[in-house]
Amino acid sequence: MNAGPRVVALTGAGISAESGVPTFRGPGSLWERYRPEELATPEAFARDPTRVWAWYAWRRERIARAEPNPAHRTLAEMEAALPSFILITQNVDGLHQRAGSRRVIELHGNLWRVRCVQEGRTWEDDRVPLPEIPPRCPACGALLRPDVVWFGEPLPPVAWRQALEAAQQAEIFLVIGTSGIVEPAASLSRLARAHGARIIEFNIEETPLTSLADEVWRGPVGETLPRWWHAFQDRP
Ligand code: OAD
Repeated sequence: MNAGPRVVALTGAGISAESGVPTFRGPGSLWERYRPEELATPEAFARDPTRVWAWYAWRRERIARAEPNPAHRTLAEMEAALPSFILITQNVDGLHQRAGSRRVIELHGNLWRVRCVQEGRTWEDDRVPLPEIPPRCPACGALLRPDVVWFGEPLPPVAWRQALEAAQQAEIFLVIGTSGIVEPAASLSRLARAHGARIIEFNIEETPLTSLADEVWRGPVGETLPRWWHAFQDRP
C-alpha cells in the first residue's frame, strides 16, 4: 500500500466502552453516578485526597480487568501500516498502548502514572490494588496524585502542541467515540476541518461534531472501525 493520505484519529471514552470501561456521559456512565467537582478537580483532591485516590483506585481495578477491543487493535494496525498516522486520545486507560499503539498523544494524561503535587515529577505505577491512602513523594514528601488532567487544569503543553499540529496536517480526521463537548479537545475536529481534512465520525449516536462530518459511521466502534479500515485498505 502506498503512504496514502495522512490519517489522524481522535479517540474518546466510547472506544473503550465495548471493553467494559464506563464512559463519562450517557446511561450507566461515570458522571451520571458521581459529581466531577467532587472527584476530578484539584480542589477536590486538596479537600479530600483519600476519597479522590479511592475513586481512581476503583477505576484502575475496572480497567485492569478490561482487554483492548477490535477498535483499539485496528488503530494499532493503522499505526503499523501508515507511517504518517497519528493517534490522539482523551482516554487515560492505557488500552491503546496495550493494543500495541506506540505513538499516542495523551491529552488528558494516564491513570497508570502518578505525579508529585509539589515538584511535578511523574512515575509509572501499575499497582492494582493501590494502597488506600495516597502515597508520598519519595523525594520531597508531598502527596502523589494520579497523572491525569482534572477540570480547570490546562492540558499537558507538549501533547497539546503535537495535537494541534496533527489536526492541521490531517487529510483524514477520524473522530471516534467522543461526545465532542469537552474543550479544548473538541476543537481539534473543527481545526482539522478548517485545514481541509475530511472528517469521519464513529459513534453510536449524534454529537455536536456530527454536523462537521463528511461521513458518519453509526454503530459500535468495535464493528464500524475495522470495517472502515478494510474499505480504506481496499481503496483503488
Ligand atoms: P464521553 O463519555 O463524554 O462520550 C462518550 C461517547 O462515546 C458518546 O458520544 C457515546 O455516544 C459514544 N459511545 C459510547 N459507546 C460507544 C461505542 N460502543 N461505539 C461508538 N461510540 C460509543 O467521553 P469523552 O468524549 O471521551 O475528561 O469525554 C471527554 C472527556 O470528558 C474525558 O476525557 C474526561 C471527561 O470528563 C477529563 O476527565 C478531563
